[in-house]
Amino acid sequence: MRDFKLEIYCAYLSCFISLALLVMPHVSYAASLKVGFYQKSCPSAERIVKESVAKAIAKNPGLAAGLIRLHFHDCFVRGCDASILLESTSASRSEKVHPANGQTLRGLEVIDNAKAKLETACPKTVSCADIIAFAARDSATWAGGISYAVPAGRRDGRISLESEVANNLPPPVSDIEFMSGFFTRKGISISQMVALSGAHSIGISQCQSFTDRIYSFNTTHAQDPSLDPKFASFLKKKCPKSATNNRVNLDVATPNKLDNQYYKNLKKKMGLLSSDQTIENSGLTANIVAKYVNNPTLWAADFAASMIQMGLIDVKTGNQGEIRNNCRIIL
Ligand code: HEM
Ligand SMILES: *[C@@H]1O[C@H](CO)[C@@H](O)[C@H](O)[C@H]1NC(C)=O
Repeated sequence: MRDFKLEIYCAYLSCFISLALLVMPHVSYAASLKVGFYQKSCPSAERIVKESVAKAIAKNPGLAAGLIRLHFHDCFVRGCDASILLESTSASRSEKVHPANGQTLRGLEVIDNAKAKLETACPKTVSCADIIAFAARDSATWAGGISYAVPAGRRDGRISLESEVANNLPPPVSDIEFMSGFFTRKGISISQMVALSGAHSIGISQCQSFTDRIYSFNTTHAQDPSLDPKFASFLKKKCPKSATNNRVNLDVATPNKLDNQYYKNLKKKMGLLSSDQTIENSGLTANIVAKYVNNPTLWAADFAASMIQMGLIDVKTGNQGEIRNNCRIIL
Protein backbone atom coordinates (compact mmCIF):
# COMPACT_ATOMS: atom_id res chain seq x y z
CA MET A 1 0.00 0.00 0.00
CA ARG A 2 2.76 2.43 0.94
CA ASP A 3 4.85 1.35 -2.06
CA PHE A 4 1.90 1.88 -4.34
CA LYS A 5 1.41 5.42 -3.06
CA LEU A 6 5.12 6.11 -3.48
CA GLU A 7 4.99 5.11 -7.15
CA ILE A 8 2.15 7.48 -7.83
CA TYR A 9 3.96 10.30 -6.11
CA CYS A 10 7.17 9.60 -8.07
CA ALA A 11 5.44 9.37 -11.43
CA TYR A 12 3.70 12.66 -10.88
CA LEU A 13 6.30 14.27 -8.65
CA SER A 14 5.88 17.81 -9.87
CA CYS A 15 2.10 17.68 -9.64
CA PHE A 16 1.84 15.98 -6.28
CA ILE A 17 4.62 17.48 -4.26
CA SER A 18 2.51 20.27 -2.79
CA LEU A 19 -0.33 17.87 -2.03
CA ALA A 20 2.09 15.49 -0.32
CA LEU A 21 3.44 18.31 1.83
CA LEU A 22 -0.06 19.32 2.83
CA VAL A 23 -1.12 15.84 3.73
CA MET A 24 2.02 14.64 5.44
CA PRO A 25 1.70 16.33 8.85
CA HIS A 26 -1.59 14.49 9.37
CA VAL A 27 -0.60 11.07 8.09
CA SER A 28 3.02 10.97 9.25
CA TYR A 29 2.17 9.59 12.71
CA ALA A 30 -0.03 6.89 11.28
CA ALA A 31 2.47 5.94 8.61
CA SER A 32 5.27 5.55 11.16
CA LEU A 33 3.39 2.94 13.21
CA LYS A 34 2.19 -0.33 11.77
CA VAL A 35 -0.39 -2.94 12.69
CA GLY A 36 1.46 -6.23 13.17
CA PHE A 37 4.79 -4.46 13.77
CA TYR A 38 6.18 -7.44 15.74
CA GLN A 39 4.95 -10.13 13.34
CA LYS A 40 8.51 -11.06 12.34
CA SER A 41 10.61 -9.84 15.27
CA CYS A 42 8.39 -11.23 18.05
CA PRO A 43 5.32 -13.06 16.76
CA SER A 44 4.09 -13.87 20.28
CA ALA A 45 4.23 -10.23 21.48
CA GLU A 46 0.54 -9.38 21.41
CA ARG A 47 -0.45 -12.81 22.71
CA ILE A 48 1.90 -12.51 25.69
CA VAL A 49 0.49 -9.11 26.61
CA LYS A 50 -3.08 -10.37 26.19
CA GLU A 51 -2.40 -13.32 28.51
CA SER A 52 -0.82 -11.13 31.20
CA VAL A 53 -3.77 -8.74 31.02
CA ALA A 54 -6.37 -11.53 31.11
CA LYS A 55 -4.72 -13.17 34.13
CA ALA A 56 -4.52 -9.90 36.06
CA ILE A 57 -8.05 -8.72 35.25
CA ALA A 58 -9.54 -12.10 36.14
CA LYS A 59 -8.19 -11.55 39.67
CA ASN A 60 -8.99 -7.82 39.81
CA PRO A 61 -11.49 -6.47 37.24
CA GLY A 62 -10.60 -2.90 38.21
CA LEU A 63 -7.27 -3.27 36.47
CA ALA A 64 -9.00 -2.91 33.08
CA ALA A 65 -9.79 0.69 34.06
CA GLY A 66 -6.29 1.19 35.41
CA LEU A 67 -4.66 0.06 32.17
CA ILE A 68 -6.87 2.20 29.92
CA ARG A 69 -6.15 5.26 32.06
CA LEU A 70 -2.43 4.44 32.02
CA HIS A 71 -2.40 4.72 28.22
CA PHE A 72 -4.21 8.09 28.36
CA HIS A 73 -1.85 9.52 30.96
CA ASP A 74 1.17 8.17 29.10
CA CYS A 75 0.13 9.61 25.73
CA PHE A 76 -0.80 13.08 26.99
CA VAL A 77 2.52 13.76 28.67
CA ARG A 78 5.48 13.63 26.27
CA GLY A 79 3.62 11.33 23.89
CA CYS A 80 2.97 7.57 24.08
CA ASP A 81 6.51 6.69 25.12
CA ALA A 82 6.05 4.92 28.46
CA SER A 83 7.47 7.95 30.25
CA ILE A 84 4.71 7.37 32.81
CA LEU A 85 6.38 4.15 33.94
CA LEU A 86 9.78 5.63 34.81
CA GLU A 87 10.74 5.89 38.46
CA SER A 88 12.10 9.15 39.86
CA THR A 89 15.88 9.40 40.10
CA SER A 90 18.05 11.28 42.58
CA ALA A 91 18.25 14.01 39.95
CA SER A 92 14.56 14.40 39.06
CA ARG A 93 11.01 13.52 40.02
CA SER A 94 9.13 11.60 37.32
CA GLU A 95 5.56 11.83 35.96
CA LYS A 96 4.22 9.04 38.11
CA VAL A 97 4.74 10.93 41.39
CA HIS A 98 2.56 13.88 40.33
CA PRO A 99 -0.74 13.85 42.30
CA ALA A 100 -2.73 13.32 39.05
CA ASN A 101 -0.97 9.93 38.87
CA GLY A 102 0.39 9.29 42.36
CA GLN A 103 -1.50 6.72 44.37
CA THR A 104 -4.24 6.35 41.78
CA LEU A 105 -2.38 4.65 38.93
CA ARG A 106 -3.25 0.98 38.62
CA GLY A 107 -1.90 -1.83 36.48
CA LEU A 108 1.81 -1.03 36.57
CA GLU A 109 2.63 -4.58 37.70
CA VAL A 110 0.67 -5.98 34.76
CA ILE A 111 3.01 -4.10 32.41
CA ASP A 112 6.07 -5.28 34.39
CA ASN A 113 4.83 -8.83 34.20
CA ALA A 114 4.24 -8.75 30.45
CA LYS A 115 7.63 -7.09 29.94
CA ALA A 116 9.42 -9.80 31.95
CA LYS A 117 7.83 -12.51 29.79
CA LEU A 118 8.65 -10.60 26.61
CA GLU A 119 12.30 -10.19 27.62
CA THR A 120 12.50 -13.98 27.85
CA ALA A 121 10.67 -14.61 24.57
CA CYS A 122 12.29 -11.82 22.52
CA PRO A 123 14.88 -9.76 24.40
CA LYS A 124 15.10 -6.01 23.75
CA THR A 125 12.44 -6.06 21.08
CA VAL A 126 9.03 -4.93 22.34
CA SER A 127 8.78 -1.39 23.72
CA CYS A 128 7.07 -0.59 27.00
CA ALA A 129 5.04 2.06 25.14
CA ASP A 130 3.61 -0.62 22.82
CA ILE A 131 2.91 -2.92 25.76
CA ILE A 132 0.80 -0.15 27.34
CA ALA A 133 -1.09 0.39 24.06
CA PHE A 134 -1.76 -3.36 23.64
CA ALA A 135 -2.79 -3.71 27.28
CA ALA A 136 -5.26 -0.81 27.01
CA ARG A 137 -6.84 -2.43 23.95
CA ASP A 138 -6.99 -5.83 25.65
CA SER A 139 -8.65 -4.17 28.65
CA ALA A 140 -11.28 -2.59 26.39
CA THR A 141 -11.91 -6.02 24.87
CA TRP A 142 -12.20 -7.63 28.27
CA ALA A 143 -14.41 -4.96 29.86
CA GLY A 144 -16.47 -3.95 26.85
CA GLY A 145 -16.04 -6.44 24.01
CA ILE A 146 -14.40 -3.60 22.07
CA SER A 147 -11.56 -4.79 19.89
CA TYR A 148 -9.33 -3.01 17.41
CA ALA A 149 -5.94 -3.44 15.76
CA VAL A 150 -3.21 -1.42 17.48
CA PRO A 151 -0.63 0.25 15.21
CA ALA A 152 2.75 -0.42 16.89
CA GLY A 153 6.42 0.43 16.64
CA ARG A 154 6.58 3.04 19.40
CA ARG A 155 9.95 3.49 21.12
CA ASP A 156 10.43 4.27 24.79
CA GLY A 157 11.35 7.75 25.95
CA ARG A 158 14.25 8.52 28.25
CA ILE A 159 12.77 11.58 29.95
CA SER A 160 9.94 11.78 32.50
CA LEU A 161 9.26 14.96 34.47
CA GLU A 162 6.69 15.55 37.18
CA SER A 163 6.70 19.22 36.18
CA GLU A 164 5.19 18.41 32.76
CA VAL A 165 2.08 16.66 34.08
CA ALA A 166 -0.10 19.60 35.19
CA ASN A 167 0.12 21.40 31.84
CA ASN A 168 -0.84 18.32 29.88
CA LEU A 169 -3.50 16.41 31.82
CA PRO A 170 -6.92 18.07 32.24
CA PRO A 171 -7.99 18.49 35.88
CA PRO A 172 -11.38 17.01 36.91
CA VAL A 173 -12.90 20.44 37.60
CA SER A 174 -12.47 21.51 33.97
CA ASP A 175 -15.31 23.15 32.07
CA ILE A 176 -15.81 22.24 28.42
CA GLU A 177 -13.72 25.05 26.91
CA PHE A 178 -10.79 24.51 29.24
CA MET A 179 -10.96 20.73 28.93
CA SER A 180 -11.21 20.60 25.15
CA GLY A 181 -8.05 22.72 24.90
CA PHE A 182 -6.04 19.88 26.44
CA PHE A 183 -7.35 17.49 23.77
CA THR A 184 -7.22 19.69 20.68
CA ARG A 185 -3.61 20.59 21.52
CA LYS A 186 -2.87 16.85 21.13
CA GLY A 187 -4.71 16.55 17.82
CA ILE A 188 -7.78 14.94 19.42
CA SER A 189 -11.04 16.54 18.28
CA ILE A 190 -13.81 17.57 20.66
CA SER A 191 -16.04 14.73 19.45
CA GLN A 192 -13.19 12.24 19.96
CA MET A 193 -12.79 13.69 23.46
CA VAL A 194 -16.46 12.96 24.13
CA ALA A 195 -16.06 9.39 22.83
CA LEU A 196 -12.95 8.83 24.97
CA SER A 197 -14.67 10.17 28.08
CA GLY A 198 -16.80 7.03 27.87
CA ALA A 199 -13.80 5.31 29.49
CA HIS A 200 -15.32 6.66 32.70
CA SER A 201 -17.97 3.96 32.40
CA ILE A 202 -15.48 1.79 34.32
CA GLY A 203 -13.18 2.41 37.24
CA ILE A 204 -13.12 4.53 40.33
CA SER A 205 -12.38 8.01 41.56
CA GLN A 206 -11.21 9.30 44.88
CA CYS A 207 -13.69 11.62 46.61
CA GLN A 208 -11.30 14.54 46.44
CA SER A 209 -11.75 14.70 42.66
CA PHE A 210 -15.39 15.78 43.04
CA THR A 211 -16.08 16.87 46.66
CA ASP A 212 -16.39 20.51 45.60
CA ARG A 213 -19.53 19.48 43.72
CA ILE A 214 -21.26 18.25 46.88
CA TYR A 215 -19.90 20.53 49.63
CA SER A 216 -18.54 23.80 48.27
CA PHE A 217 -19.61 24.45 44.69
CA ASN A 218 -19.69 28.25 44.69
CA THR A 219 -20.76 31.18 46.86
CA THR A 220 -24.45 30.81 45.99
CA HIS A 221 -24.72 27.02 45.67
CA ALA A 222 -23.16 24.61 48.16
CA GLN A 223 -24.09 21.80 45.78
CA ASP A 224 -23.60 21.70 42.01
CA PRO A 225 -27.08 22.30 40.49
CA SER A 226 -26.13 20.06 37.58
CA LEU A 227 -25.85 17.09 39.98
CA ASP A 228 -28.97 14.99 40.62
CA PRO A 229 -29.94 15.69 44.28
CA LYS A 230 -30.46 12.01 45.15
CA PHE A 231 -27.13 11.12 43.61
CA ALA A 232 -25.57 13.97 45.60
CA SER A 233 -26.96 12.51 48.87
CA PHE A 234 -25.56 9.12 47.94
CA LEU A 235 -22.16 10.70 47.28
CA LYS A 236 -22.20 12.53 50.62
CA LYS A 237 -22.64 9.20 52.39
CA LYS A 238 -19.78 7.68 50.40
CA CYS A 239 -17.62 10.75 50.90
CA PRO A 240 -17.87 12.34 54.35
CA LYS A 241 -15.96 15.64 54.36
CA SER A 242 -12.92 14.19 56.06
CA ALA A 243 -12.66 11.04 53.92
CA THR A 244 -11.04 12.49 50.81
CA ASN A 245 -9.40 9.19 49.88
CA ASN A 246 -12.58 7.11 49.81
CA ARG A 247 -13.33 5.76 46.38
CA VAL A 248 -16.52 5.79 44.33
CA ASN A 249 -17.38 4.08 41.04
CA LEU A 250 -17.27 6.47 38.08
CA ASP A 251 -20.34 4.71 36.66
CA VAL A 252 -22.81 3.90 39.45
CA ALA A 253 -24.98 1.70 37.23
CA THR A 254 -22.55 -0.71 35.52
CA PRO A 255 -19.17 -0.01 37.15
CA ASN A 256 -17.19 -2.83 35.51
CA LYS A 257 -18.72 -2.73 32.06
CA LEU A 258 -17.19 -0.50 29.40
CA ASP A 259 -20.34 0.68 27.64
CA ASN A 260 -22.51 3.68 26.75
CA GLN A 261 -24.14 3.67 30.20
CA TYR A 262 -21.81 6.58 31.00
CA TYR A 263 -23.78 8.81 28.59
CA LYS A 264 -27.12 7.65 30.03
CA ASN A 265 -25.83 8.65 33.47
CA LEU A 266 -24.94 12.11 32.17
CA LYS A 267 -28.48 12.54 30.84
CA LYS A 268 -29.74 11.78 34.37
CA LYS A 269 -27.27 14.34 35.83
CA MET A 270 -25.33 11.50 37.36
CA GLY A 271 -21.89 12.20 35.95
CA LEU A 272 -19.39 11.93 38.78
CA LEU A 273 -16.77 14.52 37.84
CA SER A 274 -17.43 18.09 36.67
CA SER A 275 -15.47 17.17 33.55
CA ASP A 276 -17.99 14.39 32.90
CA GLN A 277 -21.18 16.38 33.46
CA THR A 278 -19.90 19.36 31.48
CA ILE A 279 -20.03 17.44 28.20
CA GLU A 280 -23.78 17.00 28.69
CA ASN A 281 -24.36 20.53 30.04
CA SER A 282 -22.58 22.18 27.15
CA GLY A 283 -24.39 22.97 23.92
CA LEU A 284 -21.14 22.22 22.15
CA THR A 285 -21.23 18.49 22.96
CA ALA A 286 -24.74 17.65 24.27
CA ASN A 287 -25.78 16.38 20.84
CA ILE A 288 -22.90 13.88 20.81
CA VAL A 289 -23.94 12.61 24.24
CA ALA A 290 -27.52 12.16 22.98
CA LYS A 291 -26.24 10.25 19.95
CA TYR A 292 -24.23 7.82 22.10
CA VAL A 293 -27.15 7.23 24.49
CA ASN A 294 -29.15 5.87 21.57
CA ASN A 295 -26.42 4.09 19.69
CA PRO A 296 -24.08 1.88 21.71
CA THR A 297 -22.53 0.40 18.56
CA LEU A 298 -21.64 3.81 17.18
CA TRP A 299 -20.07 4.77 20.51
CA ALA A 300 -17.99 1.57 20.64
CA ALA A 301 -16.71 2.20 17.10
CA ASP A 302 -15.90 5.86 17.85
CA PHE A 303 -14.23 4.87 21.13
CA ALA A 304 -12.00 2.36 19.33
CA ALA A 305 -11.06 4.85 16.60
CA SER A 306 -10.34 7.55 19.18
CA MET A 307 -8.17 5.19 21.24
CA ILE A 308 -6.14 4.47 18.10
CA GLN A 309 -5.82 8.22 17.46
CA MET A 310 -4.78 8.84 21.06
CA GLY A 311 -2.15 6.11 20.71
CA LEU A 312 -0.45 8.07 17.94
CA ILE A 313 0.26 11.21 19.98
CA ASP A 314 3.91 12.31 19.64
CA VAL A 315 5.20 8.76 19.25
CA LYS A 316 8.92 8.06 18.96
CA THR A 317 9.88 5.70 16.16
CA GLY A 318 12.87 4.45 14.15
CA ASN A 319 16.01 5.12 16.14
CA GLN A 320 14.48 7.70 18.48
CA GLY A 321 14.36 6.72 22.14
CA GLU A 322 15.14 3.12 23.11
CA ILE A 323 13.66 -0.27 23.93
CA ARG A 324 13.94 -0.62 27.70
CA ASN A 325 14.46 -4.02 29.30
CA ASN A 326 12.85 -2.85 32.55
CA CYS A 327 9.93 -0.48 31.99
CA ARG A 328 10.72 1.51 35.15
CA ILE A 329 14.34 2.38 34.31
CA ILE A 330 16.02 3.83 31.22
CA LEU A 331 18.83 1.76 29.67
C1 HEM B 1 -11.73 14.44 29.79
C2 HEM B 1 -10.84 14.70 30.71
C3 HEM B 1 -10.56 13.74 31.82
C4 HEM B 1 -10.48 14.04 33.14
C5 HEM B 1 -10.59 15.42 33.75
C6 HEM B 1 -10.26 12.81 33.85
C7 HEM B 1 -10.10 12.71 35.22
C8 HEM B 1 -10.11 11.53 35.92
C9 HEM B 1 -10.10 11.43 37.36
C10 HEM B 1 -10.03 12.61 38.33
C11 HEM B 1 -10.16 10.12 37.67
C12 HEM B 1 -10.18 9.51 39.05
C13 HEM B 1 -8.81 9.36 39.61
C14 HEM B 1 -8.87 8.99 41.07
O1 HEM B 1 -9.22 9.86 41.87
O2 HEM B 1 -8.61 7.84 41.41
C15 HEM B 1 -10.20 9.38 36.43
C16 HEM B 1 -10.27 8.01 36.35
C17 HEM B 1 -10.24 7.32 35.16
N1 HEM B 1 -10.05 7.86 33.91
FE1 HEM B 1 -10.16 9.81 33.43
N2 HEM B 1 -10.22 11.79 32.96
C18 HEM B 1 -10.39 12.30 31.71
C19 HEM B 1 -10.35 11.60 30.52
C20 HEM B 1 -10.08 10.25 30.42
C21 HEM B 1 -9.76 9.56 29.20
C22 HEM B 1 -9.61 10.22 27.84
C23 HEM B 1 -9.58 8.25 29.53
C24 HEM B 1 -9.22 7.09 28.66
C25 HEM B 1 -9.51 6.98 27.40
C26 HEM B 1 -9.82 8.13 30.95
C27 HEM B 1 -9.82 6.96 31.65
C28 HEM B 1 -10.05 6.85 33.01
C29 HEM B 1 -10.28 5.59 33.70
C30 HEM B 1 -10.43 4.23 33.04
C31 HEM B 1 -10.39 5.89 35.05
C32 HEM B 1 -10.57 4.90 36.21
C33 HEM B 1 -9.19 4.48 36.69
C34 HEM B 1 -9.18 3.41 37.76
O3 HEM B 1 -10.24 2.94 38.16
O4 HEM B 1 -8.08 3.01 38.16
N3 HEM B 1 -10.08 9.36 31.46
N4 HEM B 1 -10.15 10.25 35.39
C1 LIG C 1 -22.91 29.32 40.99
O1 LIG C 1 -23.29 28.29 40.09
C2 LIG C 1 -24.54 28.48 39.46
C3 LIG C 1 -24.88 27.23 38.66
O2 LIG C 1 -23.83 26.89 37.78
C4 LIG C 1 -24.51 29.75 38.61
O3 LIG C 1 -25.74 29.93 37.96
C5 LIG C 1 -24.13 30.91 39.48
O4 LIG C 1 -23.97 32.06 38.67
C6 LIG C 1 -22.84 30.64 40.26
N1 LIG C 1 -22.62 31.72 41.19
C7 LIG C 1 -21.43 32.32 41.33
C8 LIG C 1 -21.36 33.41 42.35
O5 LIG C 1 -20.45 32.02 40.66
